[in-house]
Amino acid sequence: MRHLLTPLDFSVEEIDQLFDLASDIEHHPAKYAHACDGKKIATLFYEPSTRTRLSFEAAMINLGGSALGFQSAVNSSASKGESVADTIRVISCFADIAAIRHNKEGAAMVAARNSRIPVINAGDGGHMHPTQTLLDMMTIRELKGRLGNFTIGMCGDLKFGRTVHSLVNALARYPGVKFVFISPQELRVPDYITEMLDDKNIPYEETIRLEDAITKLDILYMTRVQRERFFNEEDYVRLKDFYILDKRLMNMAKDDMYVLHPLPRVNEISTEVDSDPRAAYFKQVQYGVYVRMAIILTLLDIHVDGGETNA
Ligand code: NCD
Repeated sequence: MRHLLTPLDFSVEEIDQLFDLASDIEHHPAKYAHACDGKKIATLFYEPSTRTRLSFEAAMINLGGSALGFQSAVNSSASKGESVADTIRVISCFADIAAIRHNKEGAAMVAARNSRIPVINAGDGGHMHPTQTLLDMMTIRELKGRLGNFTIGMCGDLKFGRTVHSLVNALARYPGVKFVFISPQELRVPDYITEMLDDKNIPYEETIRLEDAITKLDILYMTRVQRERFFNEEDYVRLKDFYILDKRLMNMAKDDMYVLHPLPRVNEISTEVDSDPRAAYFKQVQYGVYVRMAIILTLLDIHVDGGETNA
């Protein structure tokens, strides 16, 4: 049985096959409409979410299956003190696959170890968010026509942002990727990430000013300051509006520098940027459904006649 806990759980070849499958789903949705008839996904969300949970549920429903779950720890037996290990043992009796989001790093791994069904990590604390990473990568592949040979800037809360940690790990396997980390000093990318890049001789720069970096970027990955992971509100208030991407900054960027954001957006991208053809953050959401459909099929080992080969 396979789980998806980090983006590195799939090889580069498997990721290519997964994106081919997601693209086939996008263009021929009817072919997949009954692929998961009678199957259920359980979405176990101990932390708030709009997109990720609904996108998993939509993905399963698009495949002919159904969805059940809970949306916050207070609505689940976690509030009575039940462990993740026990919860997943129980859920294994109700569903065929589970997606779990939790504020503690490693929670999805604990679930996977105790599960009789495939477990998908839908975000564990500040650690990883592999399905977001896969949809970020599919968006890049669709817009740029390639994964690799580009300079990507990551801007905002690089300390607590799990989507950043997850995406850097995944992109580090592709040739010619250069990283520019743009953050205030207090929200620098963790050392374990830069050490991994050093070990692999992958080039990266760290800078504070977005103005200084934006001209050389092929992709700009904006992130919000992760309020819920701060220890005190004062620090959050001081740092929350450190970056605001607006028309003025976009005018300094390359004509084909796409802007990605995992969403939710707070203030870090001005709404005046939304109409710029380089704004790709709502496209990401759409690709997210196709990618999650492909992930569900792959982990459940379901093959559709005439469909792309699953990873
Ligand atoms: C991200 C997350 O939960 O890490 N959201 C998402 O899944 N699209 C980013 C965030 O919350 O800032």
